[in-house]
Amino acid sequence: MKTKILPTEAIKRQFEYMNVIKAENDRFALENGFRKGAFVMTFGCQQNEADSEKIAGMAESMGYEIISSPENAYLIVVNTCAIREHAELKALSTIGQYKHIKQKNPELVIAVCGCMVTQEHRVNDIKFKYPYVDFVFSTSAIHRLPELLSTKLVRGKRLYCTDEDYSVAEGLPIRRESDYRAWVSIMYGCNNFCTYCIVPYVRGRERSRRKEDIIAEVRQLVAEGYKDITLLGQNVNSYGKDMGFDYDFADLLDELAKIEGDYVLHFMTSHPKDATKKLVDVIANNKRIAKQFHLPLQSGSNRILKAMNRHYQMDRYLDIVDYMKEKIPDIVITTDIIVGFPGETEEDFEGTLNALNRVRYDMIYSFIYSPRKGTPAAEMPDQVPQDVQSERFRRLLDLQNEIAYEINQKYLGKTIRVLCDGRSKNNPDVLCGRTEGNKIVLFDGAAENEGKYLNIKITKCETFALIGEIVQ
Ligand code: 5AD
Ligand code: SF4
Repeated sequence: MKTKILPTEAIKRQFEYMNVIKAENDRFALENGFRKGAFVMTFGCQQNEADSEKIAGMAESMGYEIISSPENAYLIVVNTCAIREHAELKALSTIGQYKHIKQKNPELVIAVCGCMVTQEHRVNDIKFKYPYVDFVFSTSAIHRLPELLSTKLVRGKRLYCTDEDYSVAEGLPIRRESDYRAWVSIMYGCNNFCTYCIVPYVRGRERSRRKEDIIAEVRQLVAEGYKDITLLGQNVNSYGKDMGFDYDFADLLDELAKIEGDYVLHFMTSHPKDATKKLVDVIANNKRIAKQFHLPLQSGSNRILKAMNRHYQMDRYLDIVDYMKEKIPDIVITTDIIVGFPGETEEDFEGTLNALNRVRYDMIYSFIYSPRKGTPAAEMPDQVPQDVQSERFRRLLDLQNEIAYEINQKYLGKTIRVLCDGRSKNNPDVLCGRTEGNKIVLFDGAAENEGKYLNIKITKCETFALIGEIVQ
């Protein structure tokens, strides 16, 4: 299937709606001496963060002031996640809290979008249990926010936009959260149907952006001074496959890294079945590509990998890891692990522990398996009891903490370049930043260093952070 580029006309139409709402909001600001505020609440992954930057961009273009808390908002958009039950429950409870704000300000419009409400049963939940939500729109309808808001404001009726027209929308305004770190989506959707995962059902099939559009966006970010750019996709390794020409993710990364400037490229996520040695070579040969690889393993048991429909076995996975370590000795490798997938035995779980010992990840993102309605794994027999899941989860974390602590010791006494993120959220007395490999570094210094590269001499290495001091 060829990727459908959304006709500019469709986006132009959205700009027309934006202009109408903006005129009204400008008039309101003139009469009242303040602008209506819009608050965007985001749950979930980086893809959602990137979508929310578009939502905020559209809201700003509609004459709203983007505010950082919901209390005084005239527009609240909740961008939801569905990856695990916990994410959905958090979103629903947050939406529940907005009821009181609406009671105080009946002019407030509440919209809910994203993965959770791209499922029919959740749309019904909102319809029947959250009557103060004004409209709902699916992941493929993000760009239609202006039109939906306008319809809501004019007609006053509740709306449910469950579009499944998975196109690629170009040219929307983006209000980036940071002025030195940026997300760039290079493709949307997923074709893999891992048996536990809801993503293919809520984000549709894979579709790539045109490389010209991606290159133009990255070029502009670099020109604006962005220093850390993360290319996003559910499986970036299938970039271009839907375009039907001979240009893959490694080619794209190689071309992007040729853009002149002082910046680093990251990417996520890679599916191990599609990670190529060519890609590893491109990373090894380009100084502007972070020496970091996030390669979700999910399980270290071949039997479970098969049941997960992952299309690789441990030998293939370890082969690519060994190649990475050979070509890029200082590479930082991270992964995702699911504990307690249906049918996982103690022996299967030990396979995962063995994989951690064999690969020695710098960091893992670990999750207890959460059944997702409509996915094959939710119907599988032998669901693992919660207490067994929790016990395995604890053992996994204990082992990983040991490994991460040991790995981090190699940084002791070294001076590394760190991109400063300003004051640490956990301890405002210190600054924090990240290495090229995304390790957290804490150090003393002035807040004005935010957004700058600093050389930090590491004086102490902990499991989750390196501690150091600024050197000239
Ligand atoms: N339960 C637990 N973890 C899941 N993930 C995806 N679906 C589920 C699920 N149903 C994890 C996978 C994926 C990461 C983004 O979330 O590890 O790589
Ligand atoms: Fe989900 Fe698998 Fe697609 Fe990742 S590759 S989004 S885990 S279906």
